[in-house]
Amino acid sequence: MSNYHIKHLEEYFSVYRKSVRDPELFWSEVAEEHFMWRKKWDQVLDWDFDKAEISWFKGAQLNITENCIDRHLYTRGNKTAILFEPNDPKEPAIHITYRQLHERVSKFANVLKDQGIGKGDRVCIYLPMIPELAVAVLACARIGAIHSVVFAGFSATALSTRINDCGAKMLITSDGSFRGAKSIDLKGIVDEALEDCPGVAAVLVAKRTHAEIHMEAGRDHWLQPLLDDAYGDCVPEVMDSEDPLFILYTSGSTGKPKGMMHTTAGYMVYSAYTFKNVFQQKENDVYWCTADIGWITGHSYIVYGPLANGATTVMFEGVPSYPDYSRFWDIIDKHKITQLYTAPTAIRALAKENLDFVTSHDLSSLRILGTVGEPINEEAWHWYNDHIGKKKCPIVDTWWQTETGGILISPIPFVTPTIPTYATLPMPGIQPALMDENGEEIKGNQVDGRLCIKFPWPSIARTIWGDHQRYKDTYFSAFKGMYFTGDGALRDEVGYYRITGRVDDVIIVSGHNLGTAPIEDSINEHPAVAESAIVGFPHDIKGNALYGYVILKETGEGRDRDNLRKEINQVITEHIGPIAKLDKIQFVSGLPKTRSGKIMRRILRKIASKDTSNLGDTSTLLNPEVVAEIMKEAL
Ligand code: PRX
Repeated sequence: MSNYHIKHLEEYFSVYRKSVRDPELFWSEVAEEHFMWRKKWDQVLDWDFDKAEISWFKGAQLNITENCIDRHLYTRGNKTAILFEPNDPKEPAIHITYRQLHERVSKFANVLKDQGIGKGDRVCIYLPMIPELAVAVLACARIGAIHSVVFAGFSATALSTRINDCGAKMLITSDGSFRGAKSIDLKGIVDEALEDCPGVAAVLVAKRTHAEIHMEAGRDHWLQPLLDDAYGDCVPEVMDSEDPLFILYTSGSTGKPKGMMHTTAGYMVYSAYTFKNVFQQKENDVYWCTADIGWITGHSYIVYGPLANGATTVMFEGVPSYPDYSRFWDIIDKHKITQLYTAPTAIRALAKENLDFVTSHDLSSLRILGTVGEPINEEAWHWYNDHIGKKKCPIVDTWWQTETGGILISPIPFVTPTIPTYATLPMPGIQPALMDENGEEIKGNQVDGRLCIKFPWPSIARTIWGDHQRYKDTYFSAFKGMYFTGDGALRDEVGYYRITGRVDDVIIVSGHNLGTAPIEDSINEHPAVAESAIVGFPHDIKGNALYGYVILKETGEGRDRDNLRKEINQVITEHIGPIAKLDKIQFVSGLPKTRSGKIMRRILRKIASKDTSNLGDTSTLLNPEVVAEIMKEAL
């Protein structure tokens, strides 16, 4: 029996039992068997959920890039590590072998060093999905700098907030980016963001669109000439197991985004372990995860997990609709993709299009299909299963979070029998618990509750950068001695988990986490807006869309409503990015509030979802009359 690679259901159960009975033994065996250490650990696990303190493999030393690159050079030097598929299908794809990746990462790492970046420094990366993005991430890890990738669809304000929060000294970006038929002025956004970021001393700029851009003398440097001059070998920095590897921001239900900090050894072990099992990776596979490296899915399952296993991982620059809706299927056919990992929102969008887009391509190379980021509805699951997997490819519905670093609940393909909409069983080492509203654990099956995890796993985030108290309050105070996920789940009669959605004020739109409070804060910046409340409502493609209830100031009352709607969405785009735009905006004279002044979002959600037959208990409302008015004018 191998702890590392599970191949049968009985093996899963026996590995799982072992992982719960003796987690330290289990993870130390996995870590020992499959990774390269400069020094072994003195202690496998040290933890205290009450203080929100967790360390794995204490005292160990390593460099994650040695595990992701160097150790493959002997056996896989000429194997493709990264397969880059550009936005424009007429441009050739690029195969970067492990040997070439080693050289590119080393050169980039030397450039960073020449620019004065060293261990512990924060480097913000704001790049489109081009090879430089993966290389920059790995170059930071090579020298022990902490990368913080910001999704290149975020606005200047969102970028500067993140840069300042993590105290980045350097920013890596490009002249522009291609997205379908559009080209985006990324550097313009960067210039605007940096007006508010005095701490950024240097900007490295990759060339992609060849657009004319402003280069700030003394601050901005073209990347390529620096790489051309750099030495092609870079001795990896020896890191402690708990040294930070990266910071990645995720929305909270309130306040500014949370910089989730992940550390080196535990993250490496868990992302690699789950990649191997959830995608049943084999040596000649060509694995494609369609996420952006700006999200955790890209960190763990485009870069670190696949590379730690010596896999071939595809990076796609474009969008599923360009040049037409067959692009995904074309890429699968062209590169003979074996595993496709994507989001339900993409599946729903593609399922709406003519089936000819699919049937005109040979998808027979596919072996495993995956989904992530939001619950998948049955209809989308069946479409994926019937038309893409041809009923031969197991679908792994993987549930996890930015905070968890890796997949926590998921079928293991060809091992765990799947059921549509169920994430099924916990990965080895994961001990889920369902909790009731009184903080008691709900035992047994056929129950639902709030999903917590009882015991640490190696890739749990260690803190929120600069705000450990918030980390403790957000994840470890709702239920004593447990990590609280913010999700609801049910456990069926055989113990399978089905994630039912967020139980807090985070809304998942097209697979992206959006906190309501930050959107409300940005809307309230509009001079005509007095107050607002955002809720989610079901949407055919996005899963959820956003519905805003807005109270205008007197100055806004006489204004054209459609123009105001546009302006409000413009303000959101500037503060956060287009992903947070509202689908519907209803102007109201008041919001339903409790006597203590809290907005009763439950009612607003029902109205937005057109589910008003039973509004529930409204007896604690201060202003019940406003509900009737809102219902009457609902969009
Ligand atoms: O609500 C859950 C949902 O996405 C949230 C985490 O979002 P984020 O940190 O952006 O990470 C997304 C990629 C891992 C979770 O709290 N979620 C994620 N995967 C699933 C899911 N909901 C249902 N089913 C899933 N498979």
